[in-house]
Amino acid sequence: MKPLFIMMAALVAPLVANAAIADSISVQKTLPPRISLPHVSPVNSDLANRGAYVARTADCMACHREDYSGGVAIETPIGNIYSTNITSSKIYGIGNYTEADLAKALRKGRAPNHQIYPAMPYPSYHGMSDADISALFAYFQTVPPVEKAPEKTTHLPFPLNIRSLMLAWNVINVPSTENRVGLTPVEQRGEYLVNNLEHCGTCHTPRNLTQGLDKDRYLSGAPLGKWFAPNITPDNDTGIGRWSELDIITYLRTGKLDKRAYAGGPMAEAVAHSTRYLTDDDLIAMANYLKVIPAIKTDDYLIPVNIARLPTPISDSITYDLLEQEDYLAKAKTTPTISTSTINNSNSPKGLYLTHCASCHGVDGSAQPDARYAAIVGLSSIRRAKPDALIGVIAFGAKGAFNTAPKMPGFKEDLSHAQIASISNYVRVTFGGLPSSDVSAAEVKRVIKDKS
Ligand code: HEC
Ligand code: HEC
Ligand code: HEC
Repeated sequence: MKPLFIMMAALVAPLVANAAIADSISVQKTLPPRISLPHVSPVNSDLANRGAYVARTADCMACHREDYSGGVAIETPIGNIYSTNITSSKIYGIGNYTEADLAKALRKGRAPNHQIYPAMPYPSYHGMSDADISALFAYFQTVPPVEKAPEKTTHLPFPLNIRSLMLAWNVINVPSTENRVGLTPVEQRGEYLVNNLEHCGTCHTPRNLTQGLDKDRYLSGAPLGKWFAPNITPDNDTGIGRWSELDIITYLRTGKLDKRAYAGGPMAEAVAHSTRYLTDDDLIAMANYLKVIPAIKTDDYLIPVNIARLPTPISDSITYDLLEQEDYLAKAKTTPTISTSTINNSNSPKGLYLTHCASCHGVDGSAQPDARYAAIVGLSSIRRAKPDALIGVIAFGAKGAFNTAPKMPGFKEDLSHAQIASISNYVRVTFGGLPSSDVSAAEVKRVIKDKS
C-alpha cells in the first residue's frame, strides 16, 4: 500500500501545486487593499524593516503594547501574567540582550536569568527561523527605550512562582504544533505563519490537562476568557469549511465578512495589530494552509445562514446623521417595523433590543455602515448551536481593539437573566436568520457564572 500511495502522491502533487498557484492568482485580483506598515524602524535599514514586519506577523504588540513597554495582563487559569518591557532600555527592557539571548527567549522561553511563563507564546515561536530572529533582533535594537518598569508585574502564589517548574512543562508542551508532510511551498509558508509566527493556535486550539495546546484538537475552537475562539478547521458544519480562500483573506485583512462573520474582542486585536498588515502573499499562504489542515467536527454546530430570512438595511443614508438616527429610533420604538408579529412594548424581545442595542447596532442590525459599531446581521457568533459567545458579549460587553474604537457595554448588571435570554433569542432569529431559538434564563446564568 505504502509505495503505491507515495507514487500517487508524487503524481498528484504537481497538479495540486499548479492548482494552488492558479488559485492564488485569481484570488489576488480581488483582494481588499492592504494597509501599509505604520512602523518601519527609525533606522530604516532593510534588516530592521524586515524585523518590523516579522514583529507584526508575530503580533508582539498585542501583548507588549504598541510602544513595547509591557504591563498587559494575560489572563491564565493560574492567574494574571503581565508582559514585560521589551524596548531597548538597558535597565527595564531587553537592551542588554544578545541575538542568542533573544533566540533563547523566543524559542525556549528562557530569559537570561529566569524561565518565562508560557503566557508568552514561545511554544509556538519555537519554530521561528534564524533569519526572522536576526531581523527581529535588528529591529528591537531600534525601538526607542521606555525607561520605566511596567506598572503591573506578575505575582503568582507558591508553588506557581517557581519558574523552573516550566522546564518540566516544556518537555510535554514544546513545540506546540507538528509540521505536516507533503505541503506545497506556499502551504509551508502558511503553516509557518499560522503555527509559529501568528500563533493562531494559542487561542483557537483547546488546552490539555497541563494547559498546553491539545495537538489532537488542533484549531478546533476553545473558550477564551469571556470570548470563544471558534473552530477554524475546514469542517463544513462546525468550522470554516464553507469559507473560500478569499473569504479567509478578507476576514483577516478587514476584520469582517459581510453578513457572515465579525472579528470582535481578542480577534479584533489580532486583526488590528497584525493580520491586516500582512502582504497578499502571506495572507494567501495562510488561507491555502487553513484549507489543507485536518477538518475536525465538534459539537458546536454552525447553523447555515439563510440569506432570505435576513433583514435588509433600512436606509443607507443613516450614517453620521445623528438627528436622523434619533428620529428613526424613536419611530422604530413605537412602530413594529421588523417583525409585525412582535408586540412592541419595552419588555418584549424587540422592545428590549431597541432600547438596549439599536442605538449602536441599528434597528435593522446593520449598524451605521461608516461608524465602527459592528453590523450583526448574519454573524457566525449568533448562529452557533451554543449561544455562549453571544451571551458572553451581551453580558460582559467588548472593549474594542484600540482606545479610540467604540466599545460595547456589558449588560449583566442592568438586565435580568431572562431579559438577556430574550434579547439573545430575538437577535438569533431576527438577525441570525435561525428558524427558532430557545436560550433560557438558566443558560444565561450558567454562561455568566462560567465566564466570571
Ligand atoms: C500572547 C502574548 C505575548 C506575545 C504575542 C508576545 N509576548 Fe513576549 N512576553 C509575554 C509575557 C506575558 C511575558 C512575561 C512572561 C513572564 O513573566 O514569565 C513576555 C516576555 C517576553 C520576553 C522576556 C523579557 C524578560 O527578560 O523578562 C521577551 C524577550 C519577549 N517577551 C519578546 C517578545 C517578542 C519579540 C514578541 C514577538 C515576536 C513577543 N514577546 C510576543 C507575552 C507575549
Ligand atoms: C488572541 C486570540 C486569537 C488569536 C491569536 C487568533 N484568533 Fe481568530 N478568533 C478569536 C476569537 C475570540 C474569535 C471570535 C471573534 C468574534 O466572534 O467576534 C476569532 C475568530 C476567528 C475567525 C472567524 C471564525 C468564524 O466562524 O466566524 C477566523 C477565520 C479566525 N479567527 C482565524 C484566525 C487566524 C487564521 C489566526 C492567526 C492568524 C487567528 N484567528 C488568531 C481569537 C483569536
Ligand atoms: C454603545 C454601543 C453598543 C451597544 C449599546 C451594544 N453594542 Fe454590541 N457591539 C458594539 C461594538 C463596538 C461591538 C464590536 C466590539 C469589538 O470590536 O470587539 C459590538 C459587538 C457586538 C456583537 C458581535 C459579537 C462578535 O461576534 O464579535 C454582537 C452580537 C452584539 N454586539 C450584540 C449586541 C446586543 C444584543 C446588544 C444589546 C443588548 C448590544 N450589542 C449593545 C457596540 C454596542
